[in-house]
Amino acid sequence: MPELKVLFATSEIAPLIKTGGLADVSGALPAALCKLGVDARVLVPGYTPVLAQLSQHNVVATFDSLPGFPPARLLMGDMESDVPLLVLDCPELYQRAGGPYQDTSGHDWPDNARRFALLSRVAAILASGDSPLPWKADILHCNDWQTGLAPAYLNLWHSGTPSVMTIHNMAFQGVFPPHLLNELHLPPSSFGIDGVEYYGNLSFLKAGLYYADHITTVSPNYANEIQHERLGFGMQGLLAQRRDDLTGILNGIDTDEWNPASDGYLAKTYSATRMAGKAANKQALQQRMGLSVEPDRPLLGVISRFTYQKGLDLLLEIAPRLVELPVQLVMLGSGEPGMQDAARALAARYPGRIAAHVGFSEELSHLIEAGADMFVMPSRFEPCGLNQFYSQRYGTPPIVHATGGLADSVIDCTPETLKDGSASGFVFSGMTADNLHTTILRAVELYRDQKQWKALRKNCMDKDFSWQRSAEAYLEIYRKVLER
Ligand code: ADP
Ligand code: GLC
Repeated sequence: MPELKVLFATSEIAPLIKTGGLADVSGALPAALCKLGVDARVLVPGYTPVLAQLSQHNVVATFDSLPGFPPARLLMGDMESDVPLLVLDCPELYQRAGGPYQDTSGHDWPDNARRFALLSRVAAILASGDSPLPWKADILHCNDWQTGLAPAYLNLWHSGTPSVMTIHNMAFQGVFPPHLLNELHLPPSSFGIDGVEYYGNLSFLKAGLYYADHITTVSPNYANEIQHERLGFGMQGLLAQRRDDLTGILNGIDTDEWNPASDGYLAKTYSATRMAGKAANKQALQQRMGLSVEPDRPLLGVISRFTYQKGLDLLLEIAPRLVELPVQLVMLGSGEPGMQDAARALAARYPGRIAAHVGFSEELSHLIEAGADMFVMPSRFEPCGLNQFYSQRYGTPPIVHATGGLADSVIDCTPETLKDGSASGFVFSGMTADNLHTTILRAVELYRDQKQWKALRKNCMDKDFSWQRSAEAYLEIYRKVLER
């Protein structure tokens, strides 16, 4: 059987450009697919940092006259993982200071519709018979709203190649005013309930969910949750209607990048059978963050976008009570200014007990995973979540709300689950500050019994979260879609 060719279109990819978990997935899933014999290539916009990190590249195509878009070029480079990388170079749309979606002061780029419509349009072209490359994808795999228009373009202008749309987060839908339809080269006939229209506007995500041949999302539990009003963000009807074409596949993790036995960001490496290094990381973390160096005081870690989704408001609310327990708390993240201020204020009020680093730091995130004793993730909703996997792998049991992928990947610690070796963290239902507090108390109590705590840590570290199983599940979807 000839190799299956997959074009994986994404708006971020680790280690080149990252704002969240989508980058981690884009950096690892195509590589895992390649290991299964798939010829996967990744398409990503040529943002300034991406171009700066391309050591060498060839221009493999030019797009001079795409209706509605400035001229663009396609560059081909290689990533560390050897997955061929196609970089869409369009200086007018992508080369600027700031993030992939927002300027330096946190405002969405005003031309985001055009920026990601171009990405989608080029993805559709590369997957179709109109591709200027000798390589033509058998499957177009799109991710989140930024590439949601690609299945629409593919159906409306090109046709032929099937597409798969992966939802990483229903909360971001790429909604824009309807007058852009023409500018983005979408035919008026597509602006309806059976098309790109969403409550009178144009939604890139809706377009993807409507036109893609198959929809996946990043955990089985979330695949169910989004078919209902509470977490469907207005698209539950369409998703329920398409439930036979909707599959939840739990994300994996890059086990080379996140490996306590070889992690270059750590003060000392360690493994399940050589745990001494973990204490050295705790000490390094305490010192670096200005916490008092106390080896036996439980240290809670947080790495997160500071948003309503992540439920950090609850943690900030109970932080003064936690200090009394006593525990220490270290937070890394950025996002809503109110939460950033609250985190900084707590650190100022409880020096030596609470520390906060507002900003993005890959390096510190690894040290927190290794140095903390427990990891807190009280997300209101969480399509999959990755830090609960990293935490388990680093022997830092996660404390999570029972939602989305968190419920699918953390097993609550009870006398029974401890005994049968499945316990891997602490799970609470009912999104209240008291429930979170009680659950942290539960964790702290178990921590006092170091024998049991070590058993829990070992369970966590023995788990296999590598991508292989999930990549096989994606491959099965591709095959099914092609058979149709
Ligand atoms: P989401 O994509 O919703 O933000 P995930 O848990 O899937 O949530 O992935 C978040 C990823 O981003 C993880 O790899 C996490 O470590 C990383 N991350 C989030 N905030 C920061 C930060 N401030 N500094 C470094 N890494 C961060
Ligand atoms: C999104 C979700 C997160 C998921 C990530 C990667 O950002 O919020 O839960 O892990 O995508 O799929």
